[in-house]
This record gives sequence, structure tokens and C-alpha cells, in this order.
Amino acid sequence: MKAEIQVNKEKVISEIDNRLYGSFIEHLGRAVYHGIYEPNHETADDMGFRQDVLDTVREMEVPLVRYPGGNFVSGYHWEDGTGDRAKRPKRMELAWSSVETNEVGIDEFQEWAKRVGTDIMMAVNLGTRGPEEAGNVVEYCNSRTDTHFANMRRENGFEEPFGIRTWCLGNEMDGPWQIGHKTPKEYARTACEAAKIMKWTDETIELVACGSSHQNMETFGEWEETVLREAYEHIDYLSMHEYYGNPDNDTPGYLGCSIDMDNFITKVATICDKIKKEKGSDKDIYLSFDEWNVWFHSQEQDKKVPRWQIAPPLLEDIYNMEDALVVGCLLNTLINHADRVKIACLAQLVNVIAPIMTVNGGKMWLQTIFYPYMYACRYGRGKAMKTEVACDTYSAGGKEAIPYVDCSVVWNEEKDGVTIFVVNRNLKDAVETSFSLAGFEDYKMIEHKVLDHEDMKAVNSPEKPDTVVPREGVGMENGTVTLEPHSYHMIRLKK
Ligand code: AHR
Repeated sequence: MKAEIQVNKEKVISEIDNRLYGSFIEHLGRAVYHGIYEPNHETADDMGFRQDVLDTVREMEVPLVRYPGGNFVSGYHWEDGTGDRAKRPKRMELAWSSVETNEVGIDEFQEWAKRVGTDIMMAVNLGTRGPEEAGNVVEYCNSRTDTHFANMRRENGFEEPFGIRTWCLGNEMDGPWQIGHKTPKEYARTACEAAKIMKWTDETIELVACGSSHQNMETFGEWEETVLREAYEHIDYLSMHEYYGNPDNDTPGYLGCSIDMDNFITKVATICDKIKKEKGSDKDIYLSFDEWNVWFHSQEQDKKVPRWQIAPPLLEDIYNMEDALVVGCLLNTLINHADRVKIACLAQLVNVIAPIMTVNGGKMWLQTIFYPYMYACRYGRGKAMKTEVACDTYSAGGKEAIPYVDCSVVWNEEKDGVTIFVVNRNLKDAVETSFSLAGFEDYKMIEHKVLDHEDMKAVNSPEKPDTVVPREGVGMENGTVTLEPHSYHMIRLKK
């Protein structure tokens, strides 16, 4: 089988916002406790952060981490995670039926983020709380004024503000499972008033309003329109969330699920443009795909986890080879929509539906999906290039015309580098793929990594962490790369 991919230096989709490669840490399961924080661990630093995890996240160059939830944030009192740790309350955490000790809060998390070298995307509670408390946490984190919450931060030992630029106005407020679930109108009013107070407190911040929790929500569309009509001038982004899975074991259909993500982005962008026109505004609303990943493997086992534990093992999906291909395709879709999607968060980062896993008191290991995400973080910065892919297509899982080859190309002008991310969805045949890179004739290949495995269900584990790991590819010969059946490739060129 053959394919042709054309790129032209003159055809740029958009500069990629670095926040496109964000991730997410929620107070859920073992993400915080035993994930990033484990004071008794042999690698723990002076603040109790696991250095093995911290170093890995730093080396991946994750640019942004959403915090502290997720569903968790909708019942959270941010003050619980500040100040004297001995006085912090232990709480019943209602989103995940767990016990939250509050040993880690924003005071500690901002320090972890600093040590990693990442920015925080902070969510406020619009479930059980409202605009006033949202303004207060912005003051605590960002203000230099001689006023109550800024002084509270100083008293807690932080003279310098945390400088958090990106904020979420609640989480999945359209979902009946959410603490403090709201109708479209209720949320739109609350989000609008919270946005005003938050921006009055710090005019430099950017705000993400909740869109739908996924595109099959009953209120999808109506929700977005209502929120935008109410809050258009006060917000900057609308959120999108979607998780994918293969519960019916239909691998060809599953490998095409990035087409659903593509359609979802187009639909939400169309709604934003419709309301822009209706309002006669010259401002664009951009998209924040701030929860995306594969999530389905752990759903049955989670039903058996006892309630009211501290850091129970929840949402611990073990990812296989086909999940890594899907994550590669989803990343390509985000890159190819970089003109509209400015922020995106792989949900999540450690232990909870995560690329990085830890054993309590033990080693850290990497899942299959770690590799496409890490390569995108490291080598996906720059300009998203328009790619024209000519290849055969197939139908599966209710979708037609799924291209066998899925691709995105990024040009980093400052570093004189081009990165090609490409997935072969064909389960049987290799695809001889020829690249025509007009304007990049003086670029030569410097690296070709391949992630593949004969068994699509192969996984890594603490005992066998190297079952699915990247290998060296044979590279490009006369502009052609052989894409082995069901394989992911990262190819770097340099001038
Ligand atoms: O990421 C896990 C959960 O998925 C988040 O808490 C919630 O926002 C979503 O439903």
C-alpha cells in the first residue's frame, strides 16, 4: 500500500500555543498522594515530592498542568490546602467518595510546578461555591495588594505571587454527576459573574468557561450557545472534554476515533463563530480541550474499590499498543486544529488515566501512551503545517473514509527543525509513504522513532516496563518512509 503526504512551507495552519500539550493532576485516586507526592519515598525531596516523577515530567517538558480538578474541584475549599499543614482539615471528598487529607494544596502544588518548570491552569469551584470565592483564590494566588487574601499568602510564606495565568470557571457543570450541577442558564449566569470578579481582581488572567462534558450530552449545543450569549465578552476560551475507548473490541473502528474529535472541534468552533456574528463582536473565542484521553479499561475494577479511603487506586487504566496509536492520532488532530484549539490537557498525568505510573513506595514506570505524548511535548513546538494526505481509506465502527495514514507536521523555525508525527492505522499492511516537503529541501532527517508491537493488546507493567517502547526506525530513503502495520512514528528533520 502507498501514501503521499504533501507539506508546503508557505501553508501554515497556525503558530501552536505551547499549552496545547498540557496535562492534568486532580485530587483523585493516587494522582497527588503516591503520585507526585510521597514523603516517605526514597526519592522524595525536601517537600516530599517524588523526584523520579518530578524529573520525568520536567524532561518531558510538559508546559501546563490543570489543577486541582476535575470533579473534585466542585466541592473543594481552596483554603483547606493553604497554610499550616498541621491544622488542615481532613474531608469527605464527595466527587470520588474518598478522604482528602489536604496535605497538598495550592501552596505545595505551585512549588511542585516551579520545580518541574510547568505552568498551572487553575480551576475554581462553581459547584458548591460561587463568584466571591473564585475572586478570593485569584487574589491569594496572583495579587500584590496589601489586602486580606494576598496577605494570607504572605503569612503562609509566599511573598511573591504565584502568577497563574489560565483559569477554569468550574468543571463539567453540565453533568448530573457534578457536585452542584447546573442548567445552562444557571451556569451561564454564575460563570459570567465569576469571570467579572476574577478579571477585576487580576486583569491579566485568561478564562476558560465550561463547554459540554462530551458531544453526546443531551444539552450539547444549547449549553455552548447559552454560555457564550451570556458571558462572551468576559471569557477567552470554551472547554471541551472527551474520552475514547474500545469496550467492544473493534480495533479498526477505535483507531478511527480521532475523527470524532475532529468533528467535535469543528462543531464547537462553528457555534463560537455563530455567537460571535450574533453579537457583532470582533473577538474570537478559542477552544481549550482540557480533558482528553482514552478511559475505559478501569471502569469495572473501580466499582469494587471501597469508599472513604485516602488515595485509593482509582481510574488506573493500563494502556496497550492500540491506545498509544489512538493517542498519537488524537494529538495529530489537536495539532491540525492549532488555529482554534489553543489549550489541551491530556487527562491525566500520574496514576489516574495516566502516562506515568508509580508503585506505592516503589518504582515509577511508563505506559504505552507516554511515548506519543512525550514526543509531542518535546518536539511539537512551532507552527502547525497544513498536510495533504493522499491514501486509501476504510470504514469501521460506524465511520466511513477513515484514512489509513494519519499525520501532523510541525515546523520550528527558530530551531530549524521539522517534526513529522504519523500513524499507520492499517492492521495488516505496511504503507510506503512518500513525503513532499516543499520549501524544506535543505532539511535532513536526524531521528526516526517507531512505536509498534505485533500484539495490539501488549502493555507495560512494573515488572515488564519495556514491553512497548520506541525503537529506532530505518528512516527516510529518497523521501519515502515505510510505515509498518499499526505503527506510530516520530521523524525529525533539521536544516
Ligand atoms: O479525569 C477524570 C474525570 O473525568 C474528571 O474529574 C472529570 O472532569 C471528568 O469527568
